[in-house]
Amino acid sequence: MPNTILVGAQWGDEGKGKIIDFLTARADIVARSQGGNNAGHTVILGDQKYVLHLIPSGILRPGKVCVIGNGVVIDPVHLVGEIEGLRNRGIPVADNLVISDSAHLVLPYHRLIDEIREKAKGRRKIGTTKRGIGPCYGDKVERTGLRASDLRDPVVLSEKLKRKVAENNKILKAFGEAALSYAKIRADVLRAADVLRPFLANTSVYLHNAMRAKKKILFEGAQGTFLDIDHGTYPYVTSSNTTAGGACTGTGVPPNRIDTVIGVMKAYTTRVGEGPFPSESPELSDALHAMGREYGATTGRARRCGWFDAVATRYAAMVNGIDELAVTNLDGLDALAKIPVCVAYRAGDQTFDVPPSDLALLARCEPVCIEMPGWKTDTSKARSFADLPPRARAYLKKICSLTGARLAIASVGPARDQTIVVE
Ligand code: IMP
Ligand code: MG
Repeated sequence: MPNTILVGAQWGDEGKGKIIDFLTARADIVARSQGGNNAGHTVILGDQKYVLHLIPSGILRPGKVCVIGNGVVIDPVHLVGEIEGLRNRGIPVADNLVISDSAHLVLPYHRLIDEIREKAKGRRKIGTTKRGIGPCYGDKVERTGLRASDLRDPVVLSEKLKRKVAENNKILKAFGEAALSYAKIRADVLRAADVLRPFLANTSVYLHNAMRAKKKILFEGAQGTFLDIDHGTYPYVTSSNTTAGGACTGTGVPPNRIDTVIGVMKAYTTRVGEGPFPSESPELSDALHAMGREYGATTGRARRCGWFDAVATRYAAMVNGIDELAVTNLDGLDALAKIPVCVAYRAGDQTFDVPPSDLALLARCEPVCIEMPGWKTDTSKARSFADLPPRARAYLKKICSLTGARLAIASVGPARDQTIVVE
């Protein structure tokens, strides 16, 4: 497997963590390029469940190196918690983790302002994870952020932090909120800095050296295509480029070194947070929640569920250049007699085969569906494509042909062995 980008083809939570874990067996390095601890990637190993937020899921595989690239935003205190959490469970985190010194830092004022802005928006809230992601990327683009390299020098770090806390306390005051304590933030960040310092490096150089040594890199996308700041359902998006291009800008690996793009999508659609969702189905949401499925890994929120949306995934295949598809959660549809699949959107007398950019128009779109027959069989024990009921195979083939990419992997449950490689 040469250099491969893995992206979410929907609104996040496509099951990327599990597919990454599976593909890591064939890679040498797993790199994150965007997002922060808003992500929640769940990996099940035997009877153990791991939820990773900032550290690539590759950390669970011995001998693999995980890279947190320059495009990621790092909450240093959270990252230390994640490192210690893994170590406490016997997962070594040492020279198998390299952190970009140009990644921006998420600090307590980012989290607080994220929360306050959401509250102030009322009904128009985005439904963020309240991890401070938007305000941190805001500072980055505004050119006032702190970066991981600042963790190297306590004096420089303290000076920059002092200015930022003072500035943010003015903003907090305008919102009628209490001021943050510079001393407390400084102490917490300095403590985290001591743990993180040995991991810091220029990860672009690291990755280029690795490529020269013929190492294979797997780029682990976080969130999904329709949460992309440019290509998603703005403003109901996250603040980074979740699409394939983000893997290059977020790591310093150029586009001509990328060999394959794999899109991960659920056999249906989910979304957590606010924003338009044309194929949303309360009936499917109820059915999946009743099975105990579709609760967020980061916030525990119940995800909104809907039918497979080929308008969305076709668009995702286009903007990401998806070569191959991994379809997850097929088993979630096992009990259904009939399965609608959204093939177009309709608003009034207009029909769309790509999602309209105008949010108000998108919000008015109704799904135009075809109906596929259900298989009404437990697929969770299938281990090969041939093991699947013919109707499940037909369904998979149909959603992939509507999306316009080759089916490479189907997943029928959270465990590593519940993964079907389609030849
Ligand atoms: P933020 O990234 O916390 O600013 O949240 C912005 C939007 O992206 C909200 O709708 C979140 O629910 C959504 N979001 C952020 N991260 C994830 C993720 O990892 N999975 C699914 N949705 C996410
Ligand atoms: Mg998730």
